[in-house]
Amino acid sequence: IPVEPFDLVIFGGTGDLARRKILPGLYRRLADGQMPPEARVIGAARSEMDDEGFRKLTRESLEEFMPASALDKERVEEFLSLLSYVQVDAKGDGGWAELKEHIRPDVVHAFYFSVAPSLFGPIAERLKDHAIADDNARIVVEKPFGHDLASAKALNQSLACHFDETQIYRIDHYLGKETVQNLMAVRFGNMLFEPLWNSQYVDHIQITVAETVGVGGRGEYYDRSGAMRDMVQNHLLQLLCLIAMEPPARYDPDAVRDEKLKVIRALDPVRPDDLVRGQYREGSDGPSYLADVGDPRSRTECFIAMRMSVSNWRWAGTPFYIRTGKRLKARASEIAIVFKDAPHSIFDVPQGRHSNVLTIRLQPNEGMQMTVTIKEPGPGGMRLIDVPLDMSFAEALGEQAADIPDAYERLIMDVIRGNQTLFMRGDEVEAAWAWTDPVIADWEARGHVPSPYEQGSSGPDDALMLLHRDGRRWREIR
Ligand code: BG6
Repeated sequence: IPVEPFDLVIFGGTGDLARRKILPGLYRRLADGQMPPEARVIGAARSEMDDEGFRKLTRESLEEFMPASALDKERVEEFLSLLSYVQVDAKGDGGWAELKEHIRPDVVHAFYFSVAPSLFGPIAERLKDHAIADDNARIVVEKPFGHDLASAKALNQSLACHFDETQIYRIDHYLGKETVQNLMAVRFGNMLFEPLWNSQYVDHIQITVAETVGVGGRGEYYDRSGAMRDMVQNHLLQLLCLIAMEPPARYDPDAVRDEKLKVIRALDPVRPDDLVRGQYREGSDGPSYLADVGDPRSRTECFIAMRMSVSNWRWAGTPFYIRTGKRLKARASEIAIVFKDAPHSIFDVPQGRHSNVLTIRLQPNEGMQMTVTIKEPGPGGMRLIDVPLDMSFAEALGEQAADIPDAYERLIMDVIRGNQTLFMRGDEVEAAWAWTDPVIADWEARGHVPSPYEQGSSGPDDALMLLHRDGRRWREIR
């Protein structure tokens, strides 16, 4: 179903995110019939460029970041014809009057801030001062949304001076991933899982976001952030919230976000013993973390594992183990809900087998799997084995699965539709920092040094110990 006609201004329209994700995403939505031909996309940036230059850059981006098979010649021309470019000075007066001329009445207006957070406030101010954005306009902001609680509050305030919270779309692209939304569908659309979804039946939960890439190329940004700020404060906490939250009364933005916020507020501080930080060593895939960031004394982590607790009635006593890192053995993101053993075994099998595991695979190979115990076929007596009840989206849905839109495409279309459910609310972001800050402050005060780990491994050995000492094991990263 096509969305309404819109004008989308991309500040930072010539930047990396626009070239890799936003412009290819919009092209796919046009090719799929969701972006109407009356839509217009206006690139806005500091560089001197004309419409033709921006179209050329976009064409090159599509060719570089999309498979040739996804590009149809006529469609590409049609897409390019919807683009224009305005040179603006985010901190000065240049270009704003011209930008205003590009904005048509009677269509949806969206402004994508794909720029450094220090420009959020100045751009918001100019959009209002020049009467470019009205009370129905939507603004889209990217992470990093702050570096800590104080800076996140300052950013929220700089936007709140000019825009209402209902106009602000804070992107966490993990919320746009297909399986992440499926997690909600599975939890709240079925009777099967919800009665078991608590500490009485769930032994523990594991969330893994493993990457094979290193930080080379963005070392400067990364070394000021680290895995805690870059991945945990946003993506992993959001995943944790969707697993841990209470059923919202409705699938509407505030009902969902209220429940997520309660989870963040129920998180316990992390004890020093429950935290492992690491940096990759030099390996066959590339230089060490320290060489990648060009600082041999850096103490920033590019791997982190934690044992976390959600202190509320539903989850007291069920640990959430999370880990994420760069240059690990595989690119694999998954959530595993590990159920407890049956209270009493009538089949002479040891306890602690944890046969029932619901695995939600985010990427690659999106899908879900549930393992159950059955009798091993054959005449050998009552021997038990665990087998998967598998639901791979690719197999179950055939062609439909091949069309799963990228997270950014979906989220941009949600902006145009005015649906904030998959975007973070200001108070949610602040609560996430309020939990993150003291954990970081604590390791900084202790002068904690990250443990080195081999490239292509599962992270430092201490991370394995986090679970071993509780009599549990991480799932294989694969
Ligand atoms: C970004 C982080 O938000 O997410 C990157 O800044 C990380 O460091 C990326 O690589 C991972 O996203 P995805 O979609 O590839 O899992």
